Amino acid sequence: MNTAEFTQKYYTERRGSHSRKWDGQHLKFSRTDLLPLWVADMDFMPPQCIQNAICNYVKAVPLGYTMTNPAYIEAVMSWYKRRHSCTLSADWLTGAPNVITGLMWCIGAFTEPNDAVAVLTPVYGAFDTSANDAQRHIISVPMHRTADNRYTVDYDAFKSAIVKNDVKLFIHCNPYNPVGHVWTDEEMEQLFSICKRHHVLIISDEIHQDLITGPTPFTPALSVSGGAYADNMVAMSSVSKSFNMASLHQAEVIIPNESLRSRYNTYRSHVYHTDSDVIAEAAITAAYTHPNAEAWLNDLLAVVRENYDYMYKELYAALPELRISPMDGTYLAWIDFSTYIKPESMRDVFENQCRIAPSFGEWFGGENYATFVRLNLATSLENIKTTTHSIIRNI
Ligand SMILES: Cc1ncc(COP(=O)(O)O)c(C=O)c1O
Repeated sequence: MNTAEFTQKYYTERRGSHSRKWDGQHLKFSRTDLLPLWVADMDFMPPQCIQNAICNYVKAVPLGYTMTNPAYIEAVMSWYKRRHSCTLSADWLTGAPNVITGLMWCIGAFTEPNDAVAVLTPVYGAFDTSANDAQRHIISVPMHRTADNRYTVDYDAFKSAIVKNDVKLFIHCNPYNPVGHVWTDEEMEQLFSICKRHHVLIISDEIHQDLITGPTPFTPALSVSGGAYADNMVAMSSVSKSFNMASLHQAEVIIPNESLRSRYNTYRSHVYHTDSDVIAEAAITAAYTHPNAEAWLNDLLAVVRENYDYMYKELYAALPELRISPMDGTYLAWIDFSTYIKPESMRDVFENQCRIAPSFGEWFGGENYATFVRLNLATSLENIKTTTHSIIRNI
């Protein structure tokens, strides 16, 4: 299916559906008539085979107490193997209702109040709020932006920050929200070897793992250096980004090390007393095993890529001093407007002039990113054209 056919078939009007992105603008913006490109979900219906799996389940089975369906575990394992050449063992898998809850439980299970937790910046806001809310100290290690707007890590600075602050946990994001970077094996080897040497546990949030549109293939953190760091790691993911199912509540938390897994499960059993979500399991099983779901994902990636390429070309032609980071993964474009807009004018320009609701850069690490926006491209090309030309007209 080409991109126009995909959009014709799956794009859906979400206003009025209690969508946080469309109907929840009052939560973050000064007006509610904006074209929203903030919350990271998509404006596309999921594939029919997933809808059928949900409907068939509820038609066939009462929603009583259940145990985890082995077909769901098999489906997750088959996806990792097929899509990411990563062999999981069934007993590594545990869960959480979503990735950020899993992250909060890891922080609770593996650290104590006042322990230091490291992140790279810019950073997805829920990482530092999860740690701050649990009274952990966040140690931010700023990444460097190269001349071609890629982000790289200063490994010496990373190591020094870890040693100086006696960091206990590193929250990694692979691929990286907000800058769209897809980490290579070599880059992660450098980060993880520092963590291992200094007894820092790695949490790798891989929720964007299937959203690869650039040249760098996704490498699961579990596979780095042939699995050399898997024993010192919790990897987390879910179908919520890949198949637009964030309101179903089942994320995979993958912990190869038995004693870490048991610590996580003990913590979880103290704060949560619910079986896995059977409807989510049915949906995930379809997403990870049905050929039509994988075809849908591949078609979606072409739409996201086309949107990025369109916006990139048009914006640069009109505003050559913009700095747009390469979007190798995720469906999020990270753009620096510093040459054109003063930090204090960003809100006025985007909300009142462009009439767009972006994610503002300051949400990803404070004032250092005040001239950036993150734009969610998982929408129609028409919405991306409207956004692009509105920016060009108003700047
Ligand atoms: C890196 C990252 N992790 C986690 C989440 C949220 O995931 P969940 O809804 O499963 O908690 C997002 C959503 O934008 C994200 O970008």
